[in-house]
Amino acid sequence: MKFFIDTANFEEIKEAHSWGILSGVTTNPSLVAKENISFHERLKEIAALVPGSVSAEVISTDAEGMIREGRELAAIAPNITVKLPMTEEGLKACSTFAKEGIKTNVTLVFSANQALLAARAGASYVSPFLGRLDDIGHDGMDLIATISEIFAIHGIDTEIIAASIRHPQHITDAALNGAHIATTPLKVLKQMFKHPLTEKGLEAFLADWNSRSAD
Ligand code: E4P
Repeated sequence: MKFFIDTANFEEIKEAHSWGILSGVTTNPSLVAKENISFHERLKEIAALVPGSVSAEVISTDAEGMIREGRELAAIAPNITVKLPMTEEGLKACSTFAKEGIKTNVTLVFSANQALLAARAGASYVSPFLGRLDDIGHDGMDLIATISEIFAIHGIDTEIIAASIRHPQHITDAALNGAHIATTPLKVLKQMFKHPLTEKGLEAFLADWNSRSAD
């Protein structure tokens, strides 16, 4: 499984990038709104720092507007992926971008059929939202498992991004269930480092080292 960070905050992206684990970045309109920045300028900065896919979401709701916006976003850098909502109009735009060789991430996926439609429209990535399904009492992980199975049976190479990740166990389970990528807030990436036995073990190693008499 690869890791993307789910944020438009440049400091957070730099921090995760410095660990050498980052394969890409996803943003969405809510994350960008928190930043009070020029979206295009921020995308330029992110795309120059992180060599992998950088998802930038369109705001238009009609295919024509999405295509216009998506082309502008894709022109910012070669590693921009145009993020499109899972709607009829989004799929029309997705198939246009597939013909133009522009990468796409179909977002707000909450069912296997939506994922299948997006894949057949030529999506490079689909983003099922785990946490938001869990929030309404459904099992987001079941959806990841079902999509991976369907894609494997039909030889579909669209990559599955486990999105709306809330905690580290989501990442382990999404990896086990076949998600290719987890897009994760910085907070959850940091939680992944932690294990009490690692901290305790390191403390003991250092205490033993410092207590030795010989040099
Ligand atoms: C994915 O691309 C989305 O930006 C994101 O994972 C949504 O997560 P949320 O449900 O925590 O807002």
